[in-house]
Amino acid sequence: MNVKDKKIENTPKRQGLVIFSEIEKGAGLEGALKIKSEQVVAEISASNLKGRGGAGFPTGLKWKFAAQEKDEQKYVVCNADEGEPGTFKDRVLLSEYAPLFLEGMIIAAYAIGAAQGFVYLRGEYKSFVPALEDELKEMRKNSLLGENIGGKKGFNFDIEVRLGAGAYICGEETALIESLEGNRGEPRNRPPFPVNTGYNGHPTIVNNVETFAAVVHIAAKGADWFKAIGTEKSAGTKLLSISGDCGKPGVYEAAYGISIKEILKMADAKNVKAVQVGGASGICVPKSQFSRTIAYEDLSTGGSIIIFGQKRNLLDVVENFLEFFEEESCGQCTPCREGIPVLIEAVKMLKKGECGKEYLKDILSLCETMQLASKCGLGQSCPNTFISIIDDVKQEYALSKDSKQEKAFNG
Ligand SMILES: Cc1cc2nc3c(=O)[nH]c(=O)nc-3n(C[C@H](O)[C@H](O)[C@H](O)COP(=O)(O)O)c2cc1C
Repeated sequence: MNVKDKKIENTPKRQGLVIFSEIEKGAGLEGALKIKSEQVVAEISASNLKGRGGAGFPTGLKWKFAAQEKDEQKYVVCNADEGEPGTFKDRVLLSEYAPLFLEGMIIAAYAIGAAQGFVYLRGEYKSFVPALEDELKEMRKNSLLGENIGGKKGFNFDIEVRLGAGAYICGEETALIESLEGNRGEPRNRPPFPVNTGYNGHPTIVNNVETFAAVVHIAAKGADWFKAIGTEKSAGTKLLSISGDCGKPGVYEAAYGISIKEILKMADAKNVKAVQVGGASGICVPKSQFSRTIAYEDLSTGGSIIIFGQKRNLLDVVENFLEFFEEESCGQCTPCREGIPVLIEAVKMLKKGECGKEYLKDILSLCETMQLASKCGLGQSCPNTFISIIDDVKQEYALSKDSKQEKAFNG
């Protein structure tokens, strides 16, 4: 299958150590079906694979919790909502590697004992639906979906594609489950967690598209092979969607531990002011910190890297991100709903030189409250960029000859 979105071309040539490495179709599932389901969970745990959707929860542990539940009905959900600004790596997997991540879902179903799976696809990726449906039909024909999969008696599983309606919050796993159930996409209180009480109240694992793709390689090549790539605490590779002020934007696969400096070289980016790691909900890394690395122990990311050249005003960037969050907040909890407009106002004041030291202190304290008291990751992470740029903007203003700008922080 090779679906081409007419407006966006995927980078044509790709090589990588895990996801973009060679693998025979079906090799992962074959490896998994040779061993007991508990052993599959143990192998994924031993690989140290962590979720590639952003939060980095250990995949094996998530599967173990769901596998332990005594329930006849369990579900496997592939989170293909990909709504984080600057993230477009799942689009490549959805359009060119569908057999791979779907195989990962089948392995997950075997591991936890699920009979039904869903691919929750962001509304804007509607054009991928026909090809995904064709692939699922093909898999049913080849006994990779349906009853007694791979000749394993009693292993029955099928997958359905469900379309979101373009809400960023529906990428959050509990809002996604609400949406799958036909409700308004709003995050749930946790606990209970989806692995215990998920879709229609049954144990459900939600994993990112890239996580399922990595699972296939681990099942075929082993946990030790996987662990040998990356760093001690961050096994394997990460798909990076690189965009912004650079010569070679695109989707790259890099082993964990790659530095920002190396990324900039790879993407042919020169004269860079700052790099946004992790999308709008991530942090903005200034030039002085370009030796930092992509890894769970340093800069964690779901895959979005946005490069800002010298001409960019970081306050414009943060204002743009906050306006996105204001639009996408579900409005359920007060810190997020009421906090974002106040932050936007503060950025506008800073730009006009009307903020002042004391008010800025109050704003930073509001950011902390939002991080601690918001109900879900949206409200908790939306102040991140603001906090991360404030020292640099302060320095930039201090160096400027513009008295109004200087006043922004000192008035
Ligand atoms: C506002 C918000 C949006 C999210 N969007 C996505 C998304 O588009 N894709 C994704 O895989 N995870 C997204 N997540 C993370 C999911 O809640 C969840 O952690 C992830 O799907 C788990 O899969 P993983 O363990 O394989 O990463 C989002 C989280 C938040 C708070």
